[in-house]
Amino acid sequence: MAEPAEIDSRAFRDAMGKFCTGIVVATAMAPDGPCGFVAQSFVSLSLDPPLVGLCPARTSTSWPKIRDARHYAINVLAADQRDICNRFASSGGDKFDGVDWQPLANGAPGLPDVILRIECELQAEHDVGDHTFAVASVLALDSVRDAPPLLFNAGGYGQFSVFDLA
Ligand SMILES: Cc1cc2nc3c(=O)[nH]c(=O)nc-3n(C[C@H](O)[C@H](O)[C@H](O)COP(=O)(O)O)c2cc1C
Repeated sequence: MAEPAEIDSRAFRDAMGKFCTGIVVATAMAPDGPCGFVAQSFVSLSLDPPLVGLCPARTSTSWPKIRDARHYAINVLAADQRDICNRFASSGGDKFDGVDWQPLANGAPGLPDVILRIECELQAEHDVGDHTFAVASVLALDSVRDAPPLLFNAGGYGQFSVFDLA
């Protein structure tokens, strides 16, 4: 197998930034209260059985708590939820202070006004360089709100618009 090319990490980041994604907040209930962090590395993996994937950085302080909880939620952000995104993209502090969250059936905190909540149970973790690849089974889905998603591309946030095909 060929050795990975020597690619500057800034150049790699900039190139991968051209791949547009949505934004999620992964949340769980830890012994010291609710925890969560923003991620774009979310993917639908399998329909049968329903499985989803997430890549927490090794530096994430929330992921070890989410891993220990094993049950977590993926909260898919709407375009008007930049404030929630900024709040959960920081590390430390009480990110849930003033947030009107509610406990979901699997115990994870559900964020308000998102477009979708996915209740998950961790099934497997794989080391992938400076990140972890976490595979979870889907326990429940809740389409909370019909609103456009928050998108992330080339280091900026945006909103989806459908081509007028007429
Ligand atoms: C748009 C965006 C996407 C992000 N995607 C990820 C991701 O996929 N995985 C990850 O571990 N961190 C990601 N982050 C960074 C974390 O949200 C950030 O490091 C956060 O402070 C981690 O919080 P924690 O220490 O409570 O885990 C992203 C941040 C932003 C703004």
